[in-house]
Amino acid sequence: MARYEIHGGKPLNGTVTISGAKNAAVAILPAALLVSGKCRIENVPNISDVRILMSILDRMGAKIVSPERNVVEIDCSEVQCTEPDADLVKKMRASYYLMGALLGRFGKAHVALPGGCNFASRPIDQHIKGFEALGAAVDETEEYVALEPGEDGLHGQRICLDMASVGATVNIMLAACLIPGQTIIETAAKEPHIVDLANFLNTMGARISGAGTDTIKIRGVNSLQGGTYAIIPDQIEAGTYMAAVTAAGGNVLVQNVIPKHMDCITSKLAEMGAKVINYDDSIRIIRNGPLRKAVVKTRPYPGFPTDMQAQVCVCMALANGVSRLTESVYETRFFGYCTELESMGASIKINGKTAMVTGVEGLHGATVCAHDLRAGAALVIAGLAAEGVTYVEHIHFIERGYEHLVRKMTALGADIRRIED
Ligand code: EPU
Repeated sequence: MARYEIHGGKPLNGTVTISGAKNAAVAILPAALLVSGKCRIENVPNISDVRILMSILDRMGAKIVSPERNVVEIDCSEVQCTEPDADLVKKMRASYYLMGALLGRFGKAHVALPGGCNFASRPIDQHIKGFEALGAAVDETEEYVALEPGEDGLHGQRICLDMASVGATVNIMLAACLIPGQTIIETAAKEPHIVDLANFLNTMGARISGAGTDTIKIRGVNSLQGGTYAIIPDQIEAGTYMAAVTAAGGNVLVQNVIPKHMDCITSKLAEMGAKVINYDDSIRIIRNGPLRKAVVKTRPYPGFPTDMQAQVCVCMALANGVSRLTESVYETRFFGYCTELESMGASIKINGKTAMVTGVEGLHGATVCAHDLRAGAALVIAGLAAEGVTYVEHIHFIERGYEHLVRKMTALGADIRRIED
């Protein structure tokens, strides 16, 4: 299996360009199933989750071409299949968006339960609640979810989610676009990729308002037409490079970002001692002095993202004093990387939802294993900041979500290479 070899201890300098957002892309590609005509989607990240999703759509009968780098033209007009390939579906998490998209397009779906990063129990009861509220009859087993119209047919409905679930919000938006009547999602998730999906669907002719607030309204339309859309930059990829500079030191211009999306991350890194300068669509981050301890609690957007928990933990591991890191979205997420960081010299005590991180003078290289995408990114950052050589194994997790990580880090002066064993 391939792994990364990192010779750490070198600061990062230069410019890095952020790719399109993974979590927007994995919602927008299935959304193309709802569109009668060709969608040209730009700024699509070339990552394994996106490639799997395109294979699934291709096998379902979608016509997909990539006329240039990071551009995908997809036409799902002739798709008839409502049962996507189960083996491919199980390879990633966001394949569950096929449920909402197929329900919206065909009124039925038979989709295997998804796989992906299993850093916590990840139920989909809120997705099911949404489908049922829209009038679907749901057959859920340990293997698959099958949806078809219930006795009263599919219709718009007011749905109050029990928590602001990103996945349930996306799935209900997808299902509701072509269903007659008005659907209202209360306690909707507000993440940037929710807004991006709504903007994509509206560009294709949907009538969605309120995305980015707690209440999203979707007025069903008869059809969606093709069009062109560019995916937003990846908030978490940008945050990961910023955390890498904070941990390893240096001076990097992070370009192709939406600084507003980064506020919750930049303010914490600045509090810890990084200097952050916002421009219109880029951010300069400089770290050349000592790091200070911090208190961080992950929360849904606009709070500090759970997907940045592991990366900021590495910064805390190198800061003066004892930092407190509390996870409020996925309680078990610490287990994916804290033991690995400890093998590199970090000092972390976990008590339930909180990790107390006592800063150390420095980390040292070790052989560590990525257990999920963001945990893997954190181990790369730790390897860059550490003295000596670090080997990061199970990098397929990292390649799910980071486009050209080795190339981008190398351009910043990192000594990292991908080794095929
Ligand atoms: N939840 C339920 N029932 C549900 C849905 C969610 O109890 O039906 C709970 C979850 O267990 C969790 C919380 O609600 O405690 C939030 O889950 P959410 O549904 O918001 O997460 P998700 O849709 O499964 C997306 C991202 C994750 C990111 C979370 C939180 C995608 C494809 N995935 O997951 O991204 O961590 O939102 O922001 O958008 C990643 O990119 O590495 C990643 C894991």
